[in-house]
Amino acid sequence: MKFSAGKYKSINRENINEMVLAFYTKILREDNDVSKVFVSILGDEIHSQLWREHIEILTNFWAMIAIDDTTYNGNPLRPHLSLPLKREMFGSWLSMFFETIDSLYEPRLGAVFKDRAEIIAGNFMRNMRL
Ligand code: HEM
Repeated sequence: MKFSAGKYKSINRENINEMVLAFYTKILREDNDVSKVFVSILGDEIHSQLWREHIEILTNFWAMIAIDDTTYNGNPLRPHLSLPLKREMFGSWLSMFFETIDSLYEPRLGAVFKDRAEIIAGNFMRNMRL
């Protein structure tokens, strides 16, 4: 884990992209239900075309949330509806996401991502009746 002094003190597109890459790199290093779903859909090579596209989409998504960027124009829920997700997997997704955020951003900034992730995960679970 980085020392506090080395953490990002502002949010910009470049460090959002770093954060997204760090998050999915972490997921691919794990061997759990969440990582299995990602590997089954996108493969296990983080630099592949499929993963690069996913990372670009998720960078746009978080940039929309954190810095009002208007590039993202997808539907966040839709791809999840056809995935084999369980309630516990959202807990695991959130804990890996929180660890990534805590290692990169000062707490006040990290809260922007963490608070929103928790709300969206709750919305997904409700929509999926999980
Ligand atoms: C169990 C937890 C989760 C799993 C296994 C999961 C898995 C995936 C996968 C495999 C895709 C790519 C689908 C495709 O390209 O066909 C995807 C897309 C996406 N995920 Fe998740 N996800 C999870 C939770 C979340 C949460 C909590 C958020 C938001 C806080 C989120 C945000 C997104 C977004 C924005 C996309 C792109 C949607 C679009 O196409 O515009 N996911 N997810």
